[in-house]
Formats: sequence, structure tokens, C-alpha cells
Amino acid sequence: MIVSGSSSQAFAAALARDLEEPLAAVEYDRFPDGELLAAAPDVADRDVDRAIVVASTTSSDAHLEVLQLQDAVREAGADEVVTVLPYMGYGRQDKAFEAGHPISARAVARAISTGTDRVLTVNPHEESICGFFEPTATAVDAADQLADPLPADLEEPVFLSPDAGAVELAETVRDAYGRGATDYFEKTRLSGTEVEISPSDVAVADRDVVVTDDIIATGSTMSEAVGVLGERGVGRVFVTCVHPLLARDAVTKLSRAGVEAIYGTDTIERQYSAVSVAPSVADEL
Ligand code: R5P
Repeated sequence: MIVSGSSSQAFAAALARDLEEPLAAVEYDRFPDGELLAAAPDVADRDVDRAIVVASTTSSDAHLEVLQLQDAVREAGADEVVTVLPYMGYGRQDKAFEAGHPISARAVARAISTGTDRVLTVNPHEESICGFFEPTATAVDAADQLADPLPADLEEPVFLSPDAGAVELAETVRDAYGRGATDYFEKTRLSGTEVEISPSDVAVADRDVVVTDDIIATGSTMSEAVGVLGERGVGRVFVTCVHPLLARDAVTKLSRAGVEAIYGTDTIERQYSAVSVAPSVADEL
């Protein structure tokens, strides 16, 4: 039985269809003091062998929903609890960046681990964070699917990543698209919302460019990268990512920078979720 957190209802429904498993009714509520309640009354009514809790932890509330739903399905007698985090929040805080800081990815992984027998997540920022979970955690790779929504007529395409860390992602998208060059920018992060991008040497004049990253959060990285391209006579610019978080004014920043289209997957449900990763996750289950 598939049990959905409020952040991943379409993903959970797609997974239920792919696995031909029932989709549980769920209730989300908030008490007058602000505390949350996520419940799965359906699970209690059935003899469920395996409950699959599906939720992208895009907020602190979504994290709490996961813990509550895990507990609810176990309490209702599920023999096995699997937790699917299409997007794992706090995953980018994978080290203590300053003395006294927590390793937040480890802290949330530990909490989630207590209520589950298995974890699946999609393209975490660093695959090593899977090691923070106590039960087995598997990273599903959706990168090659990012080529699917791209126009077929890209002009001498260049697939760029905004930093060296995402160049493999750009290469995977290029390989899936079938043609084009790859390169990367040098990125220096100045603050949570400010980055500095140094151009790559690759010739982009009159060529279509696809800038690829694992996540667009505030859009600072992508909009800086696109701005640099604009100064160099680029053709069309598309941006694509696995996790379209698109917080705050990210869409405005990208639009002002001159982006032709934004593509992402449904690990985070947005109007830009052009690709579903549910079939790939279903294959792993
Ligand atoms: C960082 O290394 C990631 O790959 C992304 O480039 C970054 O997290 C995107 O964040 P933002 O959209 O806020 O610049």
C-alpha cells in the first residue's frame, strides 16, 4: 500500500499505478497549537504487508509528516515499512560547514531511519549521504530522463553545469540527448542567495545551451550562469534539473535572465515537473 505525504501526492499516485498497489487515504490536520497530524486510517483497516511512505521533505512540516506516517503504518501492523523520499531535504547540509554546526543531513537521516526498513531517494546532492541512514538507502538516478522534454531541434547544443560537481549530470543528459558538447562553469558561493560564476572556455555564440544541475533552489546559481551566457551571444538557453525546488523568486530570476524554458522532474511537484521519476523508483521497489 502506498501512503503519501502531502508534498508528493501526484508522485505517490503514479507509483501506486506503476506498482499496481492501492493508494491509501490519508488525513493531514493541524491542531490549534500548531502541531501537525498526518494519519493513514486506511492502513489500519487492512492487513498490509508492505507500506510505502512517499514524501519529499521540502519543509520541516514535511519531515514531520514522514515520521508520523511511518509510525502510523507500523502501529497499524505493516510488516515492512519502506520510505521513499523523492527529494531529501537538508541533503545539501552534508558536513559541518563551521565549528558548532550540525551535519543536518545525518540528523534527519537518523530520525527517518528509526521508522523504516528501507529508504529510497532520487539524486541526492552527494550519494554518500545514503550512508547516514541505518537501514539500506538506495539512490535512484533520474539524470538521463532530463533529456526527454528538451526540444529535438537544439542548434549545436552545449550542455553546461554551473560547477564542476554537476558535470557528470550534464554529460549524462548530453548522452541521453544523443549529441552535443559538455563543459562546466567555476562557481564560488558568496552567501545562501549569492554566487559568482566564472565562464567556461567553450564557444557558445549562436549555439543552444542547456544548463543542468541537480537542484534549482533560490535560482541564484542558474540565473548567474545564464547571465554569463547572455553576454556571449548564446542562442537559446534552457535550464533543467532533477529537483525544481524553485524557492522564493527563483522563477522570476530565471525569466529575467532570459531562460527559454525550465524543466524538472516530479521529485518536487511544480508546474515545471516535465518528467516523472515514479517509474524508475517503481523499478527499484
Ligand atoms: C550546489 O552545489 C547545487 O548543486 C546547486 O547548484 C545549488 O544548491 C543551487 O542552489 P541555488 O538555486 O540556491 O543557487
